[in-house]
Amino acid sequence: MGRFGFVAVVCVSFWGCSGPGGGDPGTAPDAGGADAGPMEPVVAFPDVWGPGSVLADESDDPDVVEVHLTARNASVSLSADTTLDMMTYEGQVPGPLLTAKVGDEIVVHFTNELDEETTVHWHGLRISDQMDGSPRIQAPVQPGETFVYRFVAPEAGTFWYHPHVRAHEQVEKGLYGTIVIRDADDPEYSLERMVVLDDILLDPDAPGMFPPFLASHPEVMHGRYGNVLLTNGRVSEEARTSATRGEVERWRVVNVANARTMELTVEGATFRVIGVDGGKLREPYTVDRLFVPVGQRYDLEVSYGEAGEARLVSNVATLNDAGDVVEVGIPVLAVDVADSTAAPRIVEWPVLPERPARAEAMTVTMMFEASMDPFGGLRWSINGEEHHEGPLFTFQQGDTVRMRLVNTQGPEHPFHLHGQFFEVVDGGAVPGPQQGLKDTVLVPGLQTVEIVAYLDNPGQWMAHCHILEHAQLGMMTEIVVEPAE
Ligand code: C2O
Ligand code: CU
Repeated sequence: MGRFGFVAVVCVSFWGCSGPGGGDPGTAPDAGGADAGPMEPVVAFPDVWGPGSVLADESDDPDVVEVHLTARNASVSLSADTTLDMMTYEGQVPGPLLTAKVGDEIVVHFTNELDEETTVHWHGLRISDQMDGSPRIQAPVQPGETFVYRFVAPEAGTFWYHPHVRAHEQVEKGLYGTIVIRDADDPEYSLERMVVLDDILLDPDAPGMFPPFLASHPEVMHGRYGNVLLTNGRVSEEARTSATRGEVERWRVVNVANARTMELTVEGATFRVIGVDGGKLREPYTVDRLFVPVGQRYDLEVSYGEAGEARLVSNVATLNDAGDVVEVGIPVLAVDVADSTAAPRIVEWPVLPERPARAEAMTVTMMFEASMDPFGGLRWSINGEEHHEGPLFTFQQGDTVRMRLVNTQGPEHPFHLHGQFFEVVDGGAVPGPQQGLKDTVLVPGLQTVEIVAYLDNPGQWMAHCHILEHAQLGMMTEIVVEPAE
């Protein structure tokens, strides 16, 4: 059970907490042993994932992508010696990649073979609210039933899909998959890899089971932190692949964990950030440590300048035997880099147009607060309301709105707005640049973050904390964007 090394959360809570229970706080997962062997499928598309890892397009029309997608329970192998009963799309975790080009019509014939209702939300895609998987609009798909999602791929980037019914359980149990929308000006790399990072909680004493949900104070307070990191659905320490010196790759990093912000570093290779939630950056940037809150995506350009082993490392706070908080670097992807004398690949970054400046129409404030239910249980709210129904704010299509996101408590909140993009104007204490269009932003404890939202997509849109436990416990509201005449 060495691999269930416990990965603790650093507590910064207003109420204080004793740290998540269970597990052995002293041990980090073993670094991938010599017996880890080649893992299939660990990473990458189009050609490194095995058959079935990309949703097959059944349409003959080059501008239509038509696929079937089924949610069902399946037993999933997370490592050579860990199998878990999970909820899956198409029997695999992550679910298969949905890929299309900008402007394509996408038709997804979705079937629910789970024992409970669900929906599919296309996180980050600016599509019709009727197709967004919001249970406030779409009656959830009952067991045995089907629903056809139909929308147009709005812009290029890395996105993901997941349920929006009891998401704190369904996503934790494995219901998530990735979306790549391509564009004519996407540069060509040696390879593109999906790097889907998850953090799940396993009970070392009851292997193969998910411990109860929302059952501990720390989980209610901070969201569910896990004790096992997964990379593309496999135990991260076994995620190993290969490359060649001089190659340059695009890694599409998605954090699908319930709560844990990933703090990533790269060793043995260099990288720069070339894309975020809303697509490619006009000005890629370099950073030593990349903070990836849940829900966000970062596209990295990774260059292998030397032979040896390159590693993507998740830096995790944990407790040592003396009870002190220390940081442990857990490799989440190892790359054996073969030597080569070939000239390094040169990737031309496209010249992207500047976004036209837009005058701000107004400023609104959202207060992220904790509250108590009548039984003394902890709840989460936005502007004093839990699970607020109806528009918290009504805007007009085309409005440019500054949103002040005020976190009055210690736990952080990755705020996600459906159906729109925004820019971060003031990211609070989150280190590193925050440029580019985003649909999710981290609001650190006791801080105020300011964003400017471009409300171009009419509809009724959920807005919530992407710590799925916080959302489940009330930190969920909606805005309405009225269509322009
Ligand atoms: Cu990825 Cu409403 O969420
Ligand atoms: Cu939250």
